[in-house]
Amino acid sequence: MLNNSQVEYDTIIPNNVSLSSDKRVLKALERWHPGYIDWWKDLGPVGFQDMLVYLRTAINVDKDGWATFDYVKMPEYRWGILLAPQKEGRTIPFGDHIGEPVWQEVPGEYRSMLRRLIVIQGDTEPASIEQQRFLGSTAPSLYDMRNLFQVNVEEGRHLWAMVYLLQKYFGSDGREEANELLKRQSGSEDAPRMLGAFNESTPDWLSFFMFTAFTDRDGKMQLEALAQSGFDPLSRTCRFMLTEEAHHMFVGENGVRRVIKKTCEMMNKAGISNPYDISKIRELGVIDLPTIQKKINLHYSLSLDLFGSEISTNAANTYTAGVKGRFWETKIKDDHILKNDTYPILEFTDGQIINKKAPALLSLNMRLRDDYTKDTAVSIKRWNRTIEEAKINFEMKLPFEGFNRKIGTFMSANISPLGDILTKDTWDKDKGKFLPTTDDNLFIESLMKPVSEPGRYADWISAPDLGIDNKPGDFEYVKIHDS
Ligand SMILES: [Fe+2]
Ligand SMILES: [Fe+2]
Repeated sequence: MLNNSQVEYDTIIPNNVSLSSDKRVLKALERWHPGYIDWWKDLGPVGFQDMLVYLRTAINVDKDGWATFDYVKMPEYRWGILLAPQKEGRTIPFGDHIGEPVWQEVPGEYRSMLRRLIVIQGDTEPASIEQQRFLGSTAPSLYDMRNLFQVNVEEGRHLWAMVYLLQKYFGSDGREEANELLKRQSGSEDAPRMLGAFNESTPDWLSFFMFTAFTDRDGKMQLEALAQSGFDPLSRTCRFMLTEEAHHMFVGENGVRRVIKKTCEMMNKAGISNPYDISKIRELGVIDLPTIQKKINLHYSLSLDLFGSEISTNAANTYTAGVKGRFWETKIKDDHILKNDTYPILEFTDGQIINKKAPALLSLNMRLRDDYTKDTAVSIKRWNRTIEEAKINFEMKLPFEGFNRKIGTFMSANISPLGDILTKDTWDKDKGKFLPTTDDNLFIESLMKPVSEPGRYADWISAPDLGIDNKPGDFEYVKIHDS
């Protein structure tokens, strides 16, 4: 039997799935590889491709020491296929097949369902790289630049992870889907990426931090739900991806926190106690807290849309099939079949917000979204602690779930971040108080001047508390000067 933690380095694709003895899949992936590299060079990070970046590379799937850090040129990064170890005797934890042994092959009846889920997940990975491709040239420090590229190469590896599943388990359709993943493009008119938030642009670094704090966290929730899957290779792949994903959210949460910290510091230094004294605060060259709140409103609401409609037969079907579970499914104490259960949801009907009990099976998107919101609230708490420590009277809040929604029950509603139902006229008039205006965005953009001296940071963001891989403050995370 295969020792799952053993990683093969003899093929061009490092892996722990014995690719060297799986000639068909190895060939398929080797054929896909040049297209991937072309895509990376065309649509991945602009500039910096020839520079040495201090990156983490996954080298095995043991809990301790799964990664090494070293200087690598991004196109030479070793994108590998790594699945978490197989759990002996694992059974399907939910749905109609509960208690049956997990599947090592795709069951015919769930083939198209599984393929669709894998393709949707796969599509988000290269999309975020495309969205972030221009950010290198305005990085506020080498530390931040390195973190951006780390997130980028790992999203690239996540694409590989999904492509492996497609090539290995879905025959010629899988091969076609793998090719399509390199053809769609974020923001493209003809062939956009599949989900809305992945076609938005990421024009500045505050947007990048917000994206990694909010949208990567949606990714985490989706991976957690797929990690429960009865299709074991999918479960194992997602479990290992989650190890990497944690760093992406760290980058986002800490990035936003450092922006807030700097704003508070500068306000205190200048003796400004009113956080709404916006023009004075902006004159200090930092981003005022109300604008950061508007960015939270935007990114949170976009991310809620990624969970789909509150009521969804699709979600019910994938659950009943044993294909996609709930967040931490095995820790939940219920029957894991949910046919007789209800779940509380909000519904927008006849201009009113009403509380309802909906069938639990149909409400699984809503439930995953609620778990997401709980997870996100932890970041908000940490950001507020930073504001509190600076003794500034301001509190960041997550907006009401019906605010600024494009999908689900609230899509036609005009609702404020506090949950008040507004007329269309009031919404149009007040929108600029809730969401970033062109002026706000131009101001943020005006701050985006690159800083590339080791140990130095742009004026609108504070230094991190710790270096990556315990490196000292003036460590040269990207060798920008000797190339
Ligand atoms: Fe990812
Ligand atoms: Fe991510």
